Amino acid sequence: MKNRGNFSSRIGFVLAAAGSAVGLGNIWRFPYLAAKYGGGTFLLCYLVLAVTFGFTLMIAEIAIGRKTRLSAIGAFSALDKRFGFIGILASIVPIIIFPYYSVIGGWVVKYLVTFASGGMQAATSDTYFTGFIGGLADPLLWFCVFVGCTALVVLFGVEKGIEKVSTILMPILVVLTIGIAVYSLTIDGAMEGFLYYIKPNLEDFSATTILAAMGQLFYSMSLAMGIMITYGSYMQKENHLEGSVRQIEIFDTAIAFFAGMMIIPAVYAFSGGDKSAMSAGPGLMFITLPKVFASMPGGAFVGTFFFLLVFFAALTSAISLMETIVSIIMDKFNLPRKKTCLIVLIMTLILGIPSSLGFGVLDFIQPLGMSILDAWDFISNSVMMPIIALFTCFFVGFIIKPQAIIDEVKQDGEKFKAAKMFTVMIKWIAPIFLILILLSSIASALGFMSI
Ligand code: PHE
Repeated sequence: MKNRGNFSSRIGFVLAAAGSAVGLGNIWRFPYLAAKYGGGTFLLCYLVLAVTFGFTLMIAEIAIGRKTRLSAIGAFSALDKRFGFIGILASIVPIIIFPYYSVIGGWVVKYLVTFASGGMQAATSDTYFTGFIGGLADPLLWFCVFVGCTALVVLFGVEKGIEKVSTILMPILVVLTIGIAVYSLTIDGAMEGFLYYIKPNLEDFSATTILAAMGQLFYSMSLAMGIMITYGSYMQKENHLEGSVRQIEIFDTAIAFFAGMMIIPAVYAFSGGDKSAMSAGPGLMFITLPKVFASMPGGAFVGTFFFLLVFFAALTSAISLMETIVSIIMDKFNLPRKKTCLIVLIMTLILGIPSSLGFGVLDFIQPLGMSILDAWDFISNSVMMPIIALFTCFFVGFIIKPQAIIDEVKQDGEKFKAAKMFTVMIKWIAPIFLILILLSSIASALGFMSI
């Protein structure tokens, strides 16, 4: 483990972890979920869950990484031999997610290039998006471009690649997000949409709202897939762990909040408050938003910046996915970084092809009644991640005991202010929620299958 990289500073660590957390989940997924599940109500649920549930799991994962200085596979078995399987399960998740995440990343690059080269009008046609993703060479090409960019950064390693890119891109991302969000509020009629977005309305509240918020939280904070364990393993002992987790959380949640503020009021104003436009789902960013840009003065410019921002966000997340896979292979087989990057690159390109073609030539393959990409998303996010998180809670709560994590957090000489909440959450409350999520996922999968 001599050659293991390290983040050079606490802020470098925080920005890299925030770079992993802030991604398509914040900008593409959060706004459409918020729009669909009642705006302010969803927002409120999300915030409460982030500071309790998200905080607990993130502290546990980063502490496990920092304590053992190993990535997920090694970390769990180093703490208790019998539980190495949790690490293996967790490591499978990024291997599943990275290829399909890069397919969507490729779509973003395509939109960025289209907007930047003056093709905005074309992008507003109803069939542009479906025509593009249903194609053959085009989506594959952009997928390769996206994976190539990611591999390039990971090749440079932790400090020179990941930390550097994150420290440059993350601040730009914050400025771009706030800028576009404020601009969006100035559109005629946007204020009403903004109110819908921030005002909780009890009528909209239901168990599905909580479950949707919970699922989003996992995804958004890159939890339950070994990523935070890997990043924790590169964290120096003197960096304050609790404070760092709070910062990452605030970062992630703030970007999601502003992304909602960019998109929801604009779409609301554009559609005259029509709820069906708001619940356009995944298509909100690729189909509805280009129309919004086209309707505003300077839209091509704003749109280009918007997709640039999404690209940065997706890139830093993809970097964390690839780094996790690379570090697992490096630890396990003692291979050099360069060779490992090449292996992971080729593996990802091969694995991503079916997801990319699943909307075109391979659209007759519909596992669980969904496209190939959606099926991978479902299996990783809705099935594997809750299971892994559940095992992690059990492992920390009853095997190594919460005290082991509390001691690790205190290693940096600071107090662990939320230690009590951490203990209760990890032992009891989080597992109950996780079981509920899992049951609801299984129910929805069965629903799909019976169609
Ligand atoms: N957290 C990232 C986001 O919000 C998504 C992601 C998931 C990143 C899994 C890495 C791993 O988009």
